[in-house]
Amino acid sequence: MEYFTTTSKVSRRATDCAIVGVYERGKLGVGAADVDAASKGEIKRRMKSGDISSSVGRCCILTNVPGVKADRVAVVGLGKSSKLDATAFKKAVTAAAMAISQTKAKQVFNALTLEPVADASPYYLARHSAEAFSDVLYRFDQMKSGRKKAASPLRKIGLAIAKRGDANKSMRGAEHGDGIAAGVALAKELGNLPANVCTPGYLARTAKRLATGNGKLTTKVLSEAEMKRLGMGSLLSVTAGTAEPAKLIVMQYKGAGSKAPVVLVGKGVTFDTGGISLKPGPAMDEMKFDMCGAASVIGTMAAVAKMKLPINLNVIVPAVENMPGSKATKPGDIVKSMSGQTIEVLNTDAEGRLILCDALTYSRRFKPAAVIDVATLTGACVVALGAHRTAIMSNSDDLREEIFAAGDAAEDRGWPMPLGDEYAAQLKSNFADMANIGGPGGGAVTAGCFLGKFTDGLNWAHLDIAGTAWKSGAKKGASGRPVPMLSQVLLARCGALP
Ligand code: BES
Ligand code: MN
Ligand code: ZN
Repeated sequence: MEYFTTTSKVSRRATDCAIVGVYERGKLGVGAADVDAASKGEIKRRMKSGDISSSVGRCCILTNVPGVKADRVAVVGLGKSSKLDATAFKKAVTAAAMAISQTKAKQVFNALTLEPVADASPYYLARHSAEAFSDVLYRFDQMKSGRKKAASPLRKIGLAIAKRGDANKSMRGAEHGDGIAAGVALAKELGNLPANVCTPGYLARTAKRLATGNGKLTTKVLSEAEMKRLGMGSLLSVTAGTAEPAKLIVMQYKGAGSKAPVVLVGKGVTFDTGGISLKPGPAMDEMKFDMCGAASVIGTMAAVAKMKLPINLNVIVPAVENMPGSKATKPGDIVKSMSGQTIEVLNTDAEGRLILCDALTYSRRFKPAAVIDVATLTGACVVALGAHRTAIMSNSDDLREEIFAAGDAAEDRGWPMPLGDEYAAQLKSNFADMANIGGPGGGAVTAGCFLGKFTDGLNWAHLDIAGTAWKSGAKKGASGRPVPMLSQVLLARCGALP
């Protein structure tokens, strides 16, 4: 997508579609007031007639508006003017993008960025606009045969600014939004691909392809034999039942010399049957999304590379398929992790932690400034937080708060959950150093505590995205979360935010 900024009046701008907004109680937004004056009351008339709604999320496209150069005017509801915050703003842009994506508009002029939005600068308004458009325009139809729905012809988005002095910040917001959107789109694509296509090998090839032609980025892929030499008995126990070779993907982006890197670790279970502790049938197809942690960290790497951030970032993806089979790990089997600690596998369906613990141990070699793992780890997390917020656990209050704040700023929210010895006690085993499951209560937290046994001395956080990584039901599909949250952490850390 191409972006530009302009101070020109919306009514004077020749474009395929202008976007303006209206508030409750008949109050017009900046762009709508301009269009209303130029058209001698067209907006107000249509508000009275009920064609235009002021509710957030509603959009009406007007054509042939007199006195206005745009072919179309998309009028979106902005709700109560006192309540317009970044969340409502993004929702409004999304509604406009949805309506516009049904038209043949090739270029649009978004005048919503002129509205006074609580706590949002021109940078964030541009960024949220870019992300919202990309989110709406994303389609997954590569697996469908026959005539596909035509992709939107939209190529260019203009962003209105109040004064020339806002141009740089607004453009930077659009660039960052475009970078984050590319990461989100890649994460969605990897998540949506079926498990017979998106195997550990496919993830590895995708990571390699991202590095080709980028001097700052390298990708290395470790085979099962190499993982065995490293002593990753826990990771390898998960792949024992499948014919699909496991991979450990290691990506390194060097944008800041010799500074300590941030390391992102993503759960890459390309399909989770549960193994011998087999999952029930209903909705098992959704376990193709069990690599969304991996997709999100690879997507974040793609975003960082596209934004060319001055940061050092490493991504580690343990990629495996969890299947039953004659060689599969059995409940009660005891395995030895790379850390030397032994684990009694009481449930082969608690496999995410078994691959992450070895990847976390591997991350130590990078002497990281921070390690953040991302995983569709527990059904218990979905029970606790639903589909709205990602669970954030950490051994550092500062890091947890940093990620929490990043989620808010990026409109990709999280919520803190505890860790602690009282929960970790559930992981006691009669036969090994620990068991891989706790009791029936607090499952998201005991999973976090399990990982905590491998992160002593690291500045570490764990994100459980079981509820946020994909949507079920009629709109089934990967969300690309938490790429915006992670990108925000990195943007803030490297000082790239205005
Ligand atoms: N991938 C699942 C977690 C999951 C389930 C995410 C449903 C999203 C929706 C994970 O590997 C798993 O099976 N976890 C078990 C752990 C249990 C055996 C302690 C779970 O949550 O049931
Ligand atoms: Mn599982
Ligand atoms: Zn799983």
